[in-house]
Amino acid sequence: MPLDIAPFQARRTRLLATMQAAGGGVAIIPTAPEQLRNRDTHYGYRFDSYFYYLTGFREPEAVLVLVAGDTPRSLLFCRTKDMEREIWDGYRFGPEAARETFGFDEAHPIAELDAQLAILLANQPAIFHSMGYEPAWDNRVTEALNRVRAQARTGCVAPAQIRDVRSLIDEMRLIKDASEIATMRRAADISGGAHRRAMRATRPGIHEYEIEAELIHEFRRYGSQAPAYGSIVAGGANACVLHYVENDGLLRDGDLLLIDAGCELDGYASDITRTFPVNGRFSGPQKAAYELVLAAQAAAIAVTRPGAGWNDPHDAATRVLAQGFIDLGLLQGSLDGVLESGSYRQFYMHRTGHWLGLDVHDAGEYKIAGEWRPLVPGNVLTVEPGCYIRPAADVPEAFWNIGIRIEDDALVTDSGCDILTAGTPKSVADIEALMAETA
Ligand code: GLY
Ligand code: MN
Ligand code: MN
Repeated sequence: MPLDIAPFQARRTRLLATMQAAGGGVAIIPTAPEQLRNRDTHYGYRFDSYFYYLTGFREPEAVLVLVAGDTPRSLLFCRTKDMEREIWDGYRFGPEAARETFGFDEAHPIAELDAQLAILLANQPAIFHSMGYEPAWDNRVTEALNRVRAQARTGCVAPAQIRDVRSLIDEMRLIKDASEIATMRRAADISGGAHRRAMRATRPGIHEYEIEAELIHEFRRYGSQAPAYGSIVAGGANACVLHYVENDGLLRDGDLLLIDAGCELDGYASDITRTFPVNGRFSGPQKAAYELVLAAQAAAIAVTRPGAGWNDPHDAATRVLAQGFIDLGLLQGSLDGVLESGSYRQFYMHRTGHWLGLDVHDAGEYKIAGEWRPLVPGNVLTVEPGCYIRPAADVPEAFWNIGIRIEDDALVTDSGCDILTAGTPKSVADIEALMAETA
């Protein structure tokens, strides 16, 4: 699909206006470096999310410079054309084609960045930079600043402030625009298909990695570039390890399988968890625990709407889970007592969601001036309660090693929320019906 550059240009225009309103200055926003995996082999390249959000440009060795002022300008510094390297590594835009294709005011060879910065920063009030994240960039920006200071006797004044550019972009990234929502819907659809494929492929006697392969097949099959995070494919007791990564266990008759996997599409993450029986039928205790988590998720989704505080879905889910743990005989005492003491954390120890977007745990603060941020239309967050029951003397044995999480991606709308991942079965009946089709 040809790149629609309008949303990226609109974001640059908005950020420039915000910088101008904050007193003006120059923003320096580099993309991510390539990372060696071993010896001379690199990890698959992934651009920096902030840089991509403002450019749509996917090559490494690139820097966006925004100059706020009466004539706001956006400049890209990138690799030059190089036929020799392009024969080995593939196409590069080069400054000229990059400027034209991505709509920058100017584009220059990356080798000219340091010299250009000394000119661009002169007589500017502030540098907008992501101070403290990349020591190499902190040094480079400091050097650029010192080069301007060294020209003081020519009458040029160096920026007096270094400001955090990420916090400005974070506020923008929290509210998804139409193009982001469209991409996130497609990512969610692909991931939903992958979870359905995994349900169909699961049976006793195969390995977790075989199911991981089904997920990856489906992601790539529909154009996703990569998983958005390491897929968790956790059978039986492995589901009680929250960040399980091995994915090499055998799937056994009678166990549950927890899959937390989502694809990344054009930079945007999806994040889905489903838990289902390896043999296609929930046992009594599995079903009881599963229905509890599902009810907790429904309670959280019901309060995911504009004006709700960030923590309201978590509080709603926790309340349902805590009462359920008492009802199932996993905890003793009253609901208030269990909530107050935090004893529910034995079985539910993580939070109920996070922002979702270019990063799976997306940018943006969760509190403003000490208060939970109110949800607004355009926010995208996950809703992912769970319960993880490890063997213990005071826990009924029927529940041992049951690990369940149910995770969906919610877009806050004007009146509530839209579940982007609704196409992935999650009721007991729907899961059992899907698995029965292929049994
Ligand atoms: N898959 C990462 C998460 O659910 O937060
Ligand atoms: Mn998540
Ligand atoms: Mn997840």
